[in-house]
Amino acid sequence: MLRLSKTFAALVIAAPFVAAQSAVWGQCGGTGWTGPTTCAAGSTCAYSNDYYSRELCIVPCLRAHILTTSTWRKLRMHPRIATSTSTGSASLPSGTSTAKLNTLATGNGKVYFGSATDNPELTDTAYVAILSDNTMFGQITPGNSWKWDATEPTQGTFTFTAGDAILDLAQANGQLLRGHNCVWYNQLPSWVSSGTLSASELESAMVNHCTTLLTHYKGGTYSFDIVNEPFNDDGTWRTDVFYNELNTTYVPTVLTAARAADPSTKLYINEYNLEYASGKSASMLSLVKSLLADDVPLDGIGFQGHLIVGQVPTSIQSQMEAFTALGVEVAITELDIRMTLPATEALYEQQKTDYQNVIAACQAVDGCVGVTIWDYTDKYSWVPSTFSGQGAACPWDSNLVIKPAFDGIVAGMSA
Ligand code: XIL
Repeated sequence: MLRLSKTFAALVIAAPFVAAQSAVWGQCGGTGWTGPTTCAAGSTCAYSNDYYSRELCIVPCLRAHILTTSTWRKLRMHPRIATSTSTGSASLPSGTSTAKLNTLATGNGKVYFGSATDNPELTDTAYVAILSDNTMFGQITPGNSWKWDATEPTQGTFTFTAGDAILDLAQANGQLLRGHNCVWYNQLPSWVSSGTLSASELESAMVNHCTTLLTHYKGGTYSFDIVNEPFNDDGTWRTDVFYNELNTTYVPTVLTAARAADPSTKLYINEYNLEYASGKSASMLSLVKSLLADDVPLDGIGFQGHLIVGQVPTSIQSQMEAFTALGVEVAITELDIRMTLPATEALYEQQKTDYQNVIAACQAVDGCVGVTIWDYTDKYSWVPSTFSGQGAACPWDSNLVIKPAFDGIVAGMSA
């Protein structure tokens, strides 16, 4: 089955923003899409399918035929998907709470409850209406448009148009922003990832990139992921271009540059699989200790929280406390809890419990400032295009209807 690969998504994101129209059968929308969203005359932009994460320009009279054919195929192959695309998961339960998540979170002493978002989604007015309710979401994170490939695709040439759209949205909505991100092995332009820069060239390119990014958004963010995913799960350093050329020095160097560029934002290192004790979490604890001992600026550790239904660690609270005991704050920065499709009522119920437990863990830790979900709706989740056969990871379904998971979040905040 065709899927939008990470590499392809990264290429798409790196593509310059163009106002052109897509040809018939051309892509005009979908996860990670930053190209044209209007179609050539005679065709309309239509949803493709649950797994392919994209929309295509389709001629209306052909569309009826295509939907008939693909619906028939889907009915044979994926009975639930056929149901969910046509009737919106009618067989699965919805959430019932009328609570507003950011109001609840801030009322409980947290700084925010937030969501990631991404530029292609901002043409979806129903989506934006929910995202823009600052009683629901007090904070947003740009999912892709502040990354290195999007902001400095060519060395020394910065493009902030898409990134600024997210800043403008947050400001118009009265929402906080988390900057994401400065240094990461993924979604790098090839002039950085190719390893053709010498160590000193790479160091100055990295410092220039982060300084320019943080200077551009100076005063506009609550916090900023300066270093993303530096470790392997076994606790060894990830052998990306930064580590290979600069060893571990890239971390203090870029944190110091970030503090100088914007002293008002909280500097984070962000990582996945910190939710349980492992080589990775031990290495992160050691890194935090040594950076603080050396007076390197560091304010927080992001627990990404890309979790799996039925497999949510019970150690999240104690893991967070291990970091806050060192003097940094923590946040859950990219929460989603995925399941193997098809979704069932039982999986939805387990997911509700799982969301409740994660939120309750942050609630129980004073130094946990907030939770960000990695987009609020399954309609725009990165999960199906990244984890084969998995999805339904967000608290709102692909029709923007709240799931039992939403009630789980409310229960976790009320605990
Ligand atoms: C993901 C985006 O959501 C996707 O659209 C993109 O194709 C790949 O990156 N950890 C991170 C995020 O820190 O930046 C990633 O975001 C998800 C994993």
